[in-house]
Amino acid sequence: TIPQILLITASYFIGAIPFAYIIVKLVKKIDIRTVGSGNAGATNAARVLGKWGFISVFVLDALKGFIPVFISLHFYGQTIITLITAAVVVLGHTYTVFLGFKGGKGVATGAGVFLALAPIEIGIGLVVFIIVFFATKMVSAGSILGSLTLLIAVCAISDWFALKVLTAVIVFFVIFKHRSNIVRIIKGEENKFVRKKEKDA
Ligand code: G3P
Repeated sequence: TIPQILLITASYFIGAIPFAYIIVKLVKKIDIRTVGSGNAGATNAARVLGKWGFISVFVLDALKGFIPVFISLHFYGQTIITLITAAVVVLGHTYTVFLGFKGGKGVATGAGVFLALAPIEIGIGLVVFIIVFFATKMVSAGSILGSLTLLIAVCAISDWFALKVLTAVIVFFVIFKHRSNIVRIIKGEENKFVRKKEKDA
């Protein structure tokens, strides 16, 4: 129907809003794609702006995942329309029309999507993300293991079969987007976040 098509189209453009690019550009007049990993995401924003850069981009990117899926759940419930909306908003973020189809890796936006779809499961994934990040100081390692945990949690807890399939697709897509990070982790070259004081010492 027309409202469904409108929702899905709007989800792409909402997902495509490149908050990391916009905030780094506004605050530092720098193109985020030219610094750090070059990724237009919360982690790379933190390399330019510090902790608050991460928090603001993460929250905004998560919101743009959450809102369309929340709206779809309200109107269409646990249907294929809601799952398409979820997939499209993540694709909008990773392949944004506003940055020549080169967006972020889908972690924050995906977290927002799953906050609406599977709040308990994303909570469990988030705990693992935080533990792995503090243990390794690598956001990418936290993202990869947190995503896999989300998939295991959805498979174990949810009784919505199509959601399990979509979760598997999104999780493997997010991991695929981290392939350069995986290579760096294996080589021991992945960027680690250290506290300012330690860095200056
Ligand atoms: O959310 C993306 C994060 O897991 C890795 O970001 O900039 O280190 O590639 P980055």
